[in-house]
Amino acid sequence: MTQWLSRVQTPAYVADIKALKQNLAVAARIKKETGCRILLATKSFAMFELFPLFAATLDGTTASGLYEAKLAHEHFHGEIHAYSPAYSEQELQDLLPLCNHLYFNSLAQLTRYGPLCRAVHGADSRLGLRVNPQLSLVKNNPNLYDPSAAGSRFGVFQESLTPDVLAAVDALHVHNLCENMADDSVRLIHHLMTMMPKALEAVDTINLGGGHYFTHPDYNVEALIEALNTLQMRFKVNIILEPGGALTFNGGHMVASILDIVDDREVPIAILDASPTCHMPDVLEMPYRPEVVGDQPDGNYRYVLAGKTCLSGDVVGTYAFDLPLQVGDKIIIKDMLQYTIVKTTTFNGMPLPDLGVLDEDGTYRVVHSFGYEDFKQRLSQTRQPLLV
Ligand SMILES: Cc1ncc(COP(=O)(O)O)c(C=O)c1O
Repeated sequence: MTQWLSRVQTPAYVADIKALKQNLAVAARIKKETGCRILLATKSFAMFELFPLFAATLDGTTASGLYEAKLAHEHFHGEIHAYSPAYSEQELQDLLPLCNHLYFNSLAQLTRYGPLCRAVHGADSRLGLRVNPQLSLVKNNPNLYDPSAAGSRFGVFQESLTPDVLAAVDALHVHNLCENMADDSVRLIHHLMTMMPKALEAVDTINLGGGHYFTHPDYNVEALIEALNTLQMRFKVNIILEPGGALTFNGGHMVASILDIVDDREVPIAILDASPTCHMPDVLEMPYRPEVVGDQPDGNYRYVLAGKTCLSGDVVGTYAFDLPLQVGDKIIIKDMLQYTIVKTTTFNGMPLPDLGVLDEDGTYRVVHSFGYEDFKQRLSQTRQPLLV
């Protein structure tokens, strides 16, 4: 067992600084070779202890609403952009002191709030409108992840981009991918150039959203760079990317311990002190089978790894190891930074995992740990305990 692993109290998310720096180096290259700006989509990862690391390379963050914008304002020195499918008037009022880059999902919201933004930020206000390109490129569970799916609530259609509408915005926003490789990024960019050339000429900025999985080994970064440069040269637009997953892909793990092994089943079941539904929700939502350290295609000892909640389907998957697992063994589940910490729940009163960092020199440190109060405080106001 590596030294750091022996120091991890489970369950814990372990952010791997070396791996995150490798991801950020790809972002730095794209920025350098295209001149585009890159924002961290904090909906995917918002462990603000690490914001300075991201801020050293990125231009800022994009928030899904008020709370993420506040967090960025407090801890991430950079631009703060916000996009939400709909803002309430109060949210918008509260957002305005924090950010001047606001994207709207509909013409009605743009009309309702645009003048207010212009009044507050004057020449510095940067207004954008989300466009639905009606181009389905997401293959994985499109009902859940494809913004162009039939019936999608995201963005206006190209026909709505009249001269009056375009005169009211500075930027267009197209988030249309999810874990897509470069050929889909390129298809999207070429589709936009064909679908809405007049709109691209009318604005000064295009935000191409997230879902460009540019840190994946199969992603052709050169192809993305070429397409971005073509778009930029042809339409003289500033380009923004706002990835989440690509920046944290393979950037850390979930470490869990085996509490028990149910061994009278066809495949023995190792019960972990972590839970997919509470701590790794995309395993069930997407669904997918995450990689686990030590899993071998021809391993002799097969186990189902499962969570400790009451949900029958709270299962990570079936894995095969060279040696039998034992109660107390630690299991490392890979690629567990993106869309995990931001989505945790305490269903079944499950403790929240520690937030840990593995530094480049191999040192492990805990950034935050949680207890009973973190579970309790979301369930009611403080009341006197019913002690007799
Ligand atoms: C508007 C918007 N921007 C950016 C992102 C980040 O996407 P990803 O994490 O796939 O790169 C999302 C994710 O849903 C999004 O909805």
